[in-house]
Amino acid sequence: MRTIDWAGDHVVAVDQTLLPGEVRMLALCDVDAVIDAIGRLAVRGAPAIGVAGGLGVALAARTGRDPEWVRSEAARLRAARPTAVNLAWAVDRVLAHVDEGAEAVLDAAVALLEADISANRALGARGAALVRELVAGPVAVHTHCNTGALACVEWGTALGVVRSLHQEGLVRLVFADETRPLLQGARLTAFELGEMGVPYRLVVDGAGPSVIARGLVDIVLVGADRVAANGDVANKIGTYPLALAAARAGIPFIVAAPESTLDRATPDGAHITIEERDPGEVLAFGGVRSAPVGALAYNPAFDITPADLVTAVVTDTRVIRPARGERVA
Ligand code: MRU
Repeated sequence: MRTIDWAGDHVVAVDQTLLPGEVRMLALCDVDAVIDAIGRLAVRGAPAIGVAGGLGVALAARTGRDPEWVRSEAARLRAARPTAVNLAWAVDRVLAHVDEGAEAVLDAAVALLEADISANRALGARGAALVRELVAGPVAVHTHCNTGALACVEWGTALGVVRSLHQEGLVRLVFADETRPLLQGARLTAFELGEMGVPYRLVVDGAGPSVIARGLVDIVLVGADRVAANGDVANKIGTYPLALAAARAGIPFIVAAPESTLDRATPDGAHITIEERDPGEVLAFGGVRSAPVGALAYNPAFDITPADLVTAVVTDTRVIRPARGERVA
């Protein structure tokens, strides 16, 4: 099953806010519905929101309104979330066809969706080869957030590498951070690892660095929302401590991301906008308020891992070594 798809005259997508309890498809029939789904993380993960943005442009074009109006709708889609570059990338690529008519726009959006599948399959194979090169035997992996099929159209990025390794019998164990505050690890990664039949242990976010320090992990594998030209990586908040711990323990810290996540126009992590979400997400756990009335919270959704801590960024076409000073541009 695809996480997101075109259904003839509208977009269908798995509502990720309901998982793992319920697998329900959302019908997204206009730009407002796409923006709402992206904003509340019903559709989430950098590649998936890129595909949603591209299909959103197609929905706008199919209304028959003039290209200027479609451009203004595309600007709203682009702004639905700021950190993952895939969203702006996909919207711009699809919008480039706006003067050719609605069918051309839709064809571009669907082509982008299909390309996401092939890119992530290629990334899985290339990433698995890199892991085999770096670590001998069945590996213990530490991962963060959700980077599986649910974050893309199919297959996944970092979890796609795990999927590819698992097919070769090369995954011993995956430690998955629960990923506060929205629990993408506990709800989504655990769900996908269970479906794959990969042995895993969920850990609280704060446990990650000490699990690594105790020698229980061979390699850290995470995804990315944006990789700057110098190799700085924006990913889900809580990624940076894993990179520090991996460096201290002397194990590889690998970022798996399709080429569409590389942002040559942004020089370094300091120029990446970090999304700040509703403090209410931190003040509650599983929808139940956990902090005292009057408590205040700060809720950055992503962090920046500096390039010198990134052993490699593996994409669908190449391996880049930021810690050795290699640039993505
Ligand atoms: O806020 P989210 O759940 O959209 O954040 C997702 C992540 O940080 C992922 O690690 C990243 O998008 C890579 S997904 C293939």
